[in-house]
Amino acid sequence: MKEGFKAIKITDSVYWVGAIDWEIRDFHGYSTPRGTTYNAYLILADKITLIDTVRAQFKDEMLARIASIVEPGDITYIISNHSEMDHSGCLPEAIEIINPEEVYASAIGVKTLNSQLDIDREIIGLREGDSLSLGNINLSFMETKMLHWPDSMMTYVQEDNLLFSQDGFGMHLASSERFADTISDEILDYEAAKYYANILMPYSRLVTRLLNKVSDSGIKIDIIAPDHGPVWRKDVGNILHSYSRWAVQEPTCKAVVVYDTMWKSTAIMAKAIGEGLGSGGTSVKLMPLMGCHRSEVVTEILNAGALVVGSSTMNNNMLPGMADVLLYLKGLKPQNLIGAAFGSYGWTGESVGQIKDQLTAMKVELIGDGIRAQYVPDSDVLEQCFSLGELIAAKLGKMCSL
Ligand code: FEO
Repeated sequence: MKEGFKAIKITDSVYWVGAIDWEIRDFHGYSTPRGTTYNAYLILADKITLIDTVRAQFKDEMLARIASIVEPGDITYIISNHSEMDHSGCLPEAIEIINPEEVYASAIGVKTLNSQLDIDREIIGLREGDSLSLGNINLSFMETKMLHWPDSMMTYVQEDNLLFSQDGFGMHLASSERFADTISDEILDYEAAKYYANILMPYSRLVTRLLNKVSDSGIKIDIIAPDHGPVWRKDVGNILHSYSRWAVQEPTCKAVVVYDTMWKSTAIMAKAIGEGLGSGGTSVKLMPLMGCHRSEVVTEILNAGALVVGSSTMNNNMLPGMADVLLYLKGLKPQNLIGAAFGSYGWTGESVGQIKDQLTAMKVELIGDGIRAQYVPDSDVLEQCFSLGELIAAKLGKMCSL
């Protein structure tokens, strides 16, 4: 077992025993320049309980942190809140080493875990509202189906008003700090929004429903302990409020202009559109794909009101980098956007039509028919681009909330 890893105290009875992944830079298509953590937690109750585990290759780190405060064999229960491999990958080996009395997951989690992993052990299914006594500490369970997998659930510690929220309220951020209030707001705000946009955005309706359910239930939440990133122990209302805002995605007076270009013609058009948007009073973020990752694009869209997309035509198609981004965005289902398409071409010029088709499939309300420029945009085309920017800004000005 590896030495040098210690458990970190969260409350008098809850310790963080997860793993820090300083190296990961891509999470199946989501760029993670700041790495991530896989959080597991130990409840030091009469019946010692492990909440979630870690990615398979981090098993020794988790076990070393556990061993810094208890013998792993003293753990009575293991509870899996979420069966995705980053939280269950080492579960079979952990069960073998720890040999707990019981292993719990949501009812769907039982099926998912058994489908993915070779677990030679019965897993007990839990349902909404079930509770479990650990002797001096009591847990209750909340099903959170499709947030963001069918099996997802959250576990509430009644004595600490602490919610183990699995992926919810998490972020991909490797850090030596374990608490959000010890990390800069700038990093927290960006990484929490990025996580929401890239993981939870398609399920926003369910996020709203969950927040309403929690509010209606009257349960008090003082601490949120997610499966990635830092623990929220101060001003928990702030992250709950951010989630409620992101879930409804009200349009703001901000436009994202995302584009890819071959010989700068589409880039020149993007800048003219950006100038028109700015002239109309809209905040503008230009995102050239040679410098922006798809997961950064969707993060900017989370608090925008307009999405304007441009690509040159190459071999009768939009550029492949733009096809990648639009496919990714479509899956994440951003809401309440207006938008437009533009791009340059040499002799066929299919890209603008293709972009419009993708935006329409994403339920983006199109403004104008799209602007095309053959080879290099002339002053007439650039005037059209500027005017399109102003038109979008005027429309946004009537509908935006900020
Ligand atoms: Fe962090 Fe859905 O797993």
